[in-house]
Amino acid sequence: MKPLTIALAKGRLLDPSARLLASLGFDLNGAANSRQLIWDDVARGARFLIAKPSDVPIYVENGAADAGIVGQDVLREGDADVYEPLALNYGHCRLVVAGKAEHAAADWRFNAGLRVATKYPRAAQKFFSARGLAAEIIGLAGSVELAPMVGLADLIVDLVDTGQTLKANGLIELAEIFKSQAAFIVNRASFTLRADELRAMMEKIEERRDQ
Ligand code: PRP
Repeated sequence: MKPLTIALAKGRLLDPSARLLASLGFDLNGAANSRQLIWDDVARGARFLIAKPSDVPIYVENGAADAGIVGQDVLREGDADVYEPLALNYGHCRLVVAGKAEHAAADWRFNAGLRVATKYPRAAQKFFSARGLAAEIIGLAGSVELAPMVGLADLIVDLVDTGQTLKANGLIELAEIFKSQAAFIVNRASFTLRADELRAMMEKIEERRDQ
C-alpha cells in the first residue's frame, strides 16, 4: 500500500509539527533543520512532504498528500476544498489591521481610499469591503510592516504573534480580523479511502493536544 502522505508547512509551524508527530512515534528526526523535502518513515508506512505553507492545501486538495498541517490563516486566505477536522492548539496568532498611531487618532474606519499592504489580499479585501471601505490592496510577499513606514501604504493587514514586529516598527494594532492556529487537514477522498489510518492518527493527536 502507498505510504500515508502528510504535507507539513515549513517555517514557524514545522518545528512544533515535527515534535507532535515525533510524540506519536513517527521518525522525523532532523526534518525541521534540513533542506530535504521528503521524509519517509518506512517502518510506519508514512511519508512527510515539507512544503511552503500556502502550497500545503494544494497538495492535499489534489491528493498528492492524504493530509497536511498548516495554519488556519493560510486556509482562510486560500480556497482549497479540503476537510479541516482538527485544530492543533499551537501556532496561535492573529490577523490584524495595523498602522501608525496617527491612524488610530484619525479614525481610519471612516477614511475612504486607504492603501493597505498585506500578504493576505483576500482576507483584507473582504474585511474592508464588509465595512463599506474602498481600500486599495497592495500585495506584498513579506516584511509588510515596512510599507507604512516608507509611505507605500496607510495600513497593513498582517499576522501578529508576540507583537514585537509591530512594536519595533512603531505600528499599533487597530482591529482584529481573525484568530489562527495550526490545523490538521485531510483530502476528501483519503478521508474515506484511508479512514482507519487517519482516524487512528487524529485520535492520537487529540490525546496529545489535550494533555
Ligand atoms: C510574521 C508576520 C509578522 C511577524 C509577527 O512574519 O507577518 O511580520 O511574523 O510576529 P511577532 O508578532 O511575533 O513579531 P514572518 O516572520 O513569518 O516573516 P515575513 O514578514 O517575511 O513573512
